[in-house]
Amino acid sequence: MKIKAFIMFMMFLMIVRFERCNGREGIIRPYWRKLKALSSSSSPSASDATFNVLNYGAKGDGKADDTKLDGKIIAPTSSSAWGSGTLQWLEFTKLKQITITGKGVIDGQGSVWWNDNSGMPSTKPTALRFYGSDGVTVKGISIQNSQQCHLKFDSCTNVQVSDITISSPGDSPNTDGIHLQNSNNVLIYGSNLACGDDCVSIQTGCSNIYVHDINCGPGHGISIGSLGKDNTKACVSNVTVRDITLQNTLTGVRIKTWQGGSGSVRDVMFSNIQVSGVETPILIDQYYCEQSKCKNASSAVAVSDIHYTNVKGTYTYEAVRLACSDSTPCRDITLDTIQLQQASDSKSSSSNGSFCWEAYGEVKTQTTPPIDCLQSRASNSKAASLDDSNKDSC
Ligand SMILES: *[C@@H]1O[C@H](CO)[C@@H](O)[C@H](O)[C@H]1NC(C)=O
Ligand SMILES: *[C@@H]1O[C@H](CO)[C@@H](O)[C@H](O)[C@H]1NC(C)=O
Ligand SMILES: *[C@@H]1O[C@H](CO)[C@@H](O)[C@H](O)[C@H]1NC(C)=O
Repeated sequence: MKIKAFIMFMMFLMIVRFERCNGREGIIRPYWRKLKALSSSSSPSASDATFNVLNYGAKGDGKADDTKLDGKIIAPTSSSAWGSGTLQWLEFTKLKQITITGKGVIDGQGSVWWNDNSGMPSTKPTALRFYGSDGVTVKGISIQNSQQCHLKFDSCTNVQVSDITISSPGDSPNTDGIHLQNSNNVLIYGSNLACGDDCVSIQTGCSNIYVHDINCGPGHGISIGSLGKDNTKACVSNVTVRDITLQNTLTGVRIKTWQGGSGSVRDVMFSNIQVSGVETPILIDQYYCEQSKCKNASSAVAVSDIHYTNVKGTYTYEAVRLACSDSTPCRDITLDTIQLQQASDSKSSSSNGSFCWEAYGEVKTQTTPPIDCLQSRASNSKAASLDDSNKDSC
């Protein structure tokens, strides 16, 4: 069984390498046509065979369009197969028009990595990563039990992800579902994401992001950030997240930034968000901190033009928490049609369902719970002058 896993791994590496070698020629595509037959075969010869990807449909001529992943690719579980410092298991870089479709499963067999004394390398790989590519489509496949993040796009443009399934346990550490960084024009829809961290994580350098019809849970919710760690500049703009259902997640839709950063998050729309047993459905946290204490700082990633419409369901801690920066308050936040009921098994919170700090904007309709902590800009001269002080450096 182990040997077979390793062979599947090696075969995948061969395919990846094949594509990379041909990458210089221009447009290329990977081919997995017969992987299914291979992976389900239990013939003894599978354990000592050498596979040539050219015999399995790979052409790499930039024209053939048979891009399929069926069957199952499983990661090796012995630490010696990995070496140290492996950041990604399966990686595709600098491609144009790459498509992965099919009913196949990529299984990171991550449980051997998830506890601290696992004996596995301390750097945990992302299962599937695309870097520096344009026109990436991922459709239909499942990715499960990743060692760490399941699916990552870094420095990519024109990305479409649909009909995929991601699944790992709610307590598997740092297993983000889909992670976006420095990527533009990304469409993610029609997918079921269950993991131990953010279902979708939108990081710095992302713009024109559209996420819809996603089911998230377990997990930490749909997140922008964390941004601005170690005094870095972060820029995120034009994000739409709509028609999302979340069950038993830590947060629903959130924006998290570290103190001390710069840059901005702006033009974000969260609409039609249905939550069930979610700790904090609406959260802006500009005091994000992963240690027990973080240094106070006098700068922050600015947060503005954030809109919440039609957020409904049940929460278990606090319905709305807008904890904005003292130095750079949040501005132009709107809340419209918010109906959040406390679930019967709730933890007690010190607020009455909503909390705001240095948060400015408008509550457009009556809400449940009442959100009377959001301040209008007219009420505060500091906020009124924000447009001048928040020079958008992005
Ligand atoms: C915002 O992003 C969407 C895609 O999600 C795009 O269609 C639209 O043109 C973008 N708007 C601006 C102002 O760039
Ligand atoms: C940071 O500021 C807050 C609010 O002013 C204060 O309560 C807290 O003690 C400060 N923390 C540190 C580490 O200085
Ligand atoms: C919660 O509501 C009660 C009754 O309206 C009020 O007296 C109390 O100050 C509120 N607590 C907080 C933290 O807003």
